Amino acid sequence: MNDFTEVMSVDDLPEGAMTAVMAEGHNILLAHVGGSFYATQEHCPHMGGNLAKGVLDGAVVTCPLHHSQFDVTTGSVVRWTDWTGALDSVSEAIRHPRPLVTYAVAVADGKVLVGPANPVAGE
Ligand code: FES
Repeated sequence: MNDFTEVMSVDDLPEGAMTAVMAEGHNILLAHVGGSFYATQEHCPHMGGNLAKGVLDGAVVTCPLHHSQFDVTTGSVVRWTDWTGALDSVSEAIRHPRPLVTYAVAVADGKVLVGPANPVAGE
């Protein structure tokens, strides 16, 4: 995805809300937090849970499947599943914590546009 794609009107996503949108064939989670819009991958990097069907609390989205949490403003992992003990150890060995891919967002003429993926820190 190299260009910016209009995904919705600014007025269609209230502060504190999130929704799923498509941009050039990519499933995107769009969130309105602190007066700004943020775009991340829609599906959880753990096992593909649909984050748009989770819960957004401030800047933190919780996956509906195993309750991993991510900061939608940075993509960073807040919590990797709510599993504990041996299950957590095995889970992390197989699927180590990974941040969300985030995308550039622009606002112009009352529209929200989603652009290219942002570089991942450390890559
Ligand atoms: S699929 Fe999201 S926490 Fe497991």
